Amino acid sequence: MNLEGRKIVLAVTGSIAAYKSAHLVRLLVKEGATVKVLMTPAAHDFITPLTLSTLSKNPVLTAFSEGNQGEWNNHVELGLWAEVMIIAPLSANTLGKMVQGICDNLVLATYLSARCPVIIAPAMDLDMLQHPSTLQNLEAVARFGNHLVEPGVGELASGLIGKGRMAEPEEIVDYLIAFFRQQNRLSGKTALVTAGPTHEAIDPVRFIGNNSTGKMGYAIAEALAASGAEVHVVSGPTHLALEHPRVSITRVTSAREMYDACQQKFPTTQIAVLSAAVADYRPVVQAQSKIKKSGENIKLELTQNPDIAAELGRQKKAGQFVVGFALETDNERANAEKKLATKNFDLIVLNSLRDAGAGFGHDTNKVTVMGKKAFVREFPLKSKKQLAYDIVDTIIQHVGS
Ligand code: CTP
Repeated sequence: MNLEGRKIVLAVTGSIAAYKSAHLVRLLVKEGATVKVLMTPAAHDFITPLTLSTLSKNPVLTAFSEGNQGEWNNHVELGLWAEVMIIAPLSANTLGKMVQGICDNLVLATYLSARCPVIIAPAMDLDMLQHPSTLQNLEAVARFGNHLVEPGVGELASGLIGKGRMAEPEEIVDYLIAFFRQQNRLSGKTALVTAGPTHEAIDPVRFIGNNSTGKMGYAIAEALAASGAEVHVVSGPTHLALEHPRVSITRVTSAREMYDACQQKFPTTQIAVLSAAVADYRPVVQAQSKIKKSGENIKLELTQNPDIAAELGRQKKAGQFVVGFALETDNERANAEKKLATKNFDLIVLNSLRDAGAGFGHDTNKVTVMGKKAFVREFPLKSKKQLAYDIVDTIIQHVGS
C-alpha cells in the first residue's frame, strides 16, 4: 500500500467525469489512504453522495451545515486535516471561481483554507478547455502553486474527440504516489540556500543594492523543506518570511556577512542552492557619517566582494552538491555553461531577463537548468513556487544518481 495513512480530501465538482471519482476513491482507499469526499451541489447531478460515502467509508459533505441539528462542516479544519486536496474532476465553473477567490460552497471554502498542496484534474469539453478564459484560468491556478494532472486526449462525452477528459483515476493515483514519494526524498539531508539581494553600505543611510526580492530563493527553501530536507537560508534584506519547522534563517545585509554565514554552514551542508543576487562590488570606504552634498560629481571607489559561490564550489567535497544561478542578458547559455565550470557547480539555473514575467520582482519566472555532460532542462513560464518544485525535482534526480 503506497498511501498508507495518508489523509486526502477529494473534492468532486459538476462534470460528467464525476462518475470516475467513484473509481478514484476506491483506488485511494485500496492504497491505504483515508479519504474525505466533498461535493459541489452540481456534482450531485452526476453521482450520488451515497456511492462516494460507501466507497470512502466516510460521510460526504456538500453544505456548510448538514442535517436539522445545524452541525457545521468546518472547512478550516478540513483544510488543516488534509495532507493533500485533490479536485477531480475540476469543472470550468469551479476553476473560474478558484481564480477569483469566490467561496459560495464548501469545496471552494475548503480550497481557500487549505494549507496543503492542491492537485487539480480538470475535465471539460474540447472547446471549453481551449477557450482563452479557461486557458488563462489554468495558468492562474498554476501560478497560485496548484499542481495540475493534465486532462487526457480521447473521445469526450459530447462525442467530440480531443483533449479534455479527466485523467484516468490510475494516473491520478500514480501522480499522488510520486508526489508523496518526493516529499520524503531529501529527508536526512541538510540544505543551504542563499536568497535575496545584498546591500553594500556607502554611508549610514545609503547603499548599493539590486532589485532581487528573494522570492525564488525562499520558494526553493520551502520546496526543499517540503521534500524532507533540513534547510538553512542565508537571506539578504527582504520583506519575506518563511515559517516551516525544517527551515531556519540567518538574516544578513552585505556580501561579506553572507559569505561568513555560508562559510559557517557549508561544511555540514549536502545541498547548497545559491540563488542570492550578491553584489560583486562594495565601496572601499564606508563613511561613518552621512556624506554631505559637495561639488557636481563625486567618485565612489569600489572593491570586489568575495565570490561566495566560487569559494563554496572550490571547497566542495564528495557528497556535496552545489547549484548556482545565472542571470544573463547576452549569450545566455554559453555564459551559464562557463559559470557552471568555473564555479564548480553541479547544476546552474539560468534566468532569462528577456522573457516577459521572468526575473526580479515577478511571481513568475522562466528558467533553464543546465548541468554537466550537456544536461539541459527548459521550463516554461511558471509561478516561482511551482518552478521551485521543478528545480528541487531536478536536484533530487541528480543527487540520487
Ligand atoms: N555569486 C556569489 N557571490 C558573488 C557573486 C555571485 O555567490 N559575489 C553567485 C550567485 O548567487 C549565483 C552565481 O554566483 O549563484 C552567479 O552569479 P552572477 O552574478 O550571475 O555571476 P558573476 O560571477 O557575478 O558574473 P557576472 O556578474 O560577471 O555575470
